[in-house]
This record gives sequence, structure tokens and C-alpha cells, in this order.
Amino acid sequence: MTGALRTTVLVSGSGSNLQALIDAHLAGRLNIHIGHVISNVAEARGLRRAEQAGIPTSVLKHGDFADRDAFDRALALLIASCKPDLVVLAGFMRIIGPAVLQPFRGRMINLHPSLLPLYRGTDTYQRALDAGDERHGASMHFVTEELDGGPLISQVVIPVIAGDDAAGLAARLAPMEHRLVVATVELFATHRVECCDGGVSIDGRIHAMPLQLQADGRLHP
Ligand code: GRF
Repeated sequence: MTGALRTTVLVSGSGSNLQALIDAHLAGRLNIHIGHVISNVAEARGLRRAEQAGIPTSVLKHGDFADRDAFDRALALLIASCKPDLVVLAGFMRIIGPAVLQPFRGRMINLHPSLLPLYRGTDTYQRALDAGDERHGASMHFVTEELDGGPLISQVVIPVIAGDDAAGLAARLAPMEHRLVVATVELFATHRVECCDGGVSIDGRIHAMPLQLQADGRLHP
């Protein structure tokens, strides 16, 4: 495909969302080139998925660095060497600082398993259950200094069902996250979205609310 969006994906774990992007690309549904997959965890299954797809990988273990800033500077250099149009944090379980954020501002997005602004941080499923929420979901947003707080691009909502526990809720959300990641990256691949002063611009219009993933797999206001 021509003009493919040069994409770098960061993972720490299973990499099922990375796999969704790989599969959508292979199926001809997503005009991206995943040039590199980076992990801070050497054993991450996501790295094996990338290797199987023939995608170059790198491991950058935060424990090998003197401090957070040294890790961030090395990560920024590594990402920059991939020359990405878009950086996707797909289950990257590491808070990143200004050294990474500044060069990729507006080009770095994160997947988070909650209906942001609800439940930033971890344990989102249990926190939603403890609050008695009737809905849970996942969000994609531009990455900023604020943890899980950057401008929202898209969300998918699922109902909480009687008897759900955190593991069950996570298992039901996972396939919807995969669809959300693909649909959201497609917005970038088709040059429909950008981060601007007022928040998120989609098709040239600023959206105060995130797009919602619908049953047809598309994002709608
Ligand atoms: C997803 O639930 C995502 O929302 C969260 O980490 C998980 C990553 O899953 N940030 P995977 O590694 O893509 O399978």
C-alpha cells in the first residue's frame, strides 16, 4: 500500500491490541506500516507476536537505567530512530515523561481500559464494579503530561452485567478494545484526526466529546 502511516507500537504485555493492528493491516483494512515494536518487558508476548509478523523489535528495560529521565531519553531516541507518523501505546505499562512526550506531542496515543475521565491509572475494572457502574469501556486519547488525561479521541462502551467480576469484565471488553484500536488508528491513517489547541479535531471540526465505536465497527460522534 502506498502512503502507509508509519507506526511504532509500545507494549508491555500480551499485545493482543498490537495483534489486532497487525491483522487489520494484513487483511488490507488498515493502511499502516508497523515499522517497530518496543517493549520495556523482555518477556512480553507482544514482542513474540511482532517477530512472527516480521516486525523489528527492541527491548528497553527501565531497570537498566539510572533513573526515570535516563530511560525516557533513551526511549525517545529509539522511537525517533523509527521516524514514526504515529506512536501507539497499546498496553504500555510505564509512565513516560517530557523527554518522550515533547518530540511526539500530537503523534502519540494511548489505549486505556475505562471511560475516561473516569478511573485513570490501574484497577479500572474493579473500581468500576465497586462504584456500581452500569457501563464500562475503553478510551483512546492523545498522550500528555497528565496521566491518562490527554484529549479524548474515541471510546467504546459495554454494559456491566450482573455477576461480572474484574476478570470477566476485562475479557468482555478486550475484543471491543481491539476494534477501537483499529478504528482509531484508521482515523490517523486516513488523516482525519489531529490534536489542536481546543482538543481533538476530526474531519476539520473540533470535538468536545470522543467518537463512539458503533456496532458496525465505525466511530461516530
Ligand atoms: C488493555 O486492556 C489496555 O486497555 C490496557 O492494557 C491492556 C493491553 O492488552 N492499557 P494487550 O497487551 O494489548 O493484550
